[in-house]
Amino acid sequence: MQVVRQAATVLTCDPAQPGALGVLTGVAIALDSGRITWIGPDEEAPDGEVLDATGCVVLPGLVDCHTHLVWAGDRADEFRRRLAGESYTSLLEAGGGILSTVRATRAASEADLVELATARLKAMRARGVTTVEVKSGYGLEPATEARMLRAAHRAGEASGVRVVGTFLGAHAVPAEWRHDRAGYVRQVIREQLPAVAPWASAIDVYVDRGAFTVEEGREILAAGRAAGLAVRVHAEQVAFTGIAAVAAELGAISADHLERIDAVGIAALARAGTVAVLLPAAMLYLRDPPPPVEALRAAGVPLAVATDYNPGSSPAGDLWVAATLSMIAMGLTVEEAVLGITRNAARALGRPELGQIRVGGPADLVLVAPPAGFPATAAGLLQPLGGQQVRAVVGG
Ligand code: NIG
Ligand code: FE
Repeated sequence: MQVVRQAATVLTCDPAQPGALGVLTGVAIALDSGRITWIGPDEEAPDGEVLDATGCVVLPGLVDCHTHLVWAGDRADEFRRRLAGESYTSLLEAGGGILSTVRATRAASEADLVELATARLKAMRARGVTTVEVKSGYGLEPATEARMLRAAHRAGEASGVRVVGTFLGAHAVPAEWRHDRAGYVRQVIREQLPAVAPWASAIDVYVDRGAFTVEEGREILAAGRAAGLAVRVHAEQVAFTGIAAVAAELGAISADHLERIDAVGIAALARAGTVAVLLPAAMLYLRDPPPPVEALRAAGVPLAVATDYNPGSSPAGDLWVAATLSMIAMGLTVEEAVLGITRNAARALGRPELGQIRVGGPADLVLVAPPAGFPATAAGLLQPLGGQQVRAVVGG
């Protein structure tokens, strides 16, 4: 048995506990056989191996619910070109962007992908992240799509991170199918989907200018749903298309990006209980406007925050940084940012048992101190951009 003792504060993120964040003070937490077995007054803590949380905030293990972290190659030159004024979409339409990462990823062996992904996941776990969603989408043909997701799961085992796989065969139209888009959609549905099935729990599509149309997206999402996968979507990022509302009608568990979502889309997300996944680093790297957070909040749409970690639009794998950016660049409150990387992120993955600290739940938590001089509270932890000091991570 392990016992977390002397925490300055515990943000349980359990709705049954007080306040928006379920804040407890003066409590100890006992962990046994992978579960949380007891939470109670510190002075009544049972015996066990002590995890000393003096000066720390204790939170659920963080959940990064949107990443593209299996990739090979790099896009540093593209970064220079975008700084000089070229747009993300024009690079993609000219065969660069996502498609340049596709070429490098197709050429990489599974061992290479496992090694790269393991390094990335180890860095994330060291920051307190115990669950990471990983998308395919840099293969765009059956063998590499499956290889990416298999590599993600192997990297999860090597790094102690719980990996949740998402199939994103409709991330871009590959060069060889440019003149037969319908043929590519057929391949996604008939060949890629069965090939990735053992490694994916959700399907995702990128509907946007330069990517897929709403009709193509609808057909692919519906096929994924019929195959038993949860529905997610990259929606309303560069251009407004209306895909968020379509995905919500298909019962999507999340709609992600949403910089350009309209009132109809927001109402559809609210009706369906779809989580809005906000990706502030991608928004800033692409110099997009912020999503309509006030309208999403007013409609009661649950908000999650993720890194979107990838080599192009969001080369930023630190979930604490994403959480802080969600407040300063998008207008989330401290409480929304914390729930966005814990409970609501877990919900966006269809894993509501994660992202909370409660008796009977998984022993999955992080002990973390703010940078020197900041208070050990939710606001003190998230006000600084990076620099949180992770003392211990349990679970994953
Ligand atoms: O979420 N927008 C589409 N897909 C990713 C970018 C992936 C890439 O640029 O390689 C995103 O921003
Ligand atoms: Fe993405």
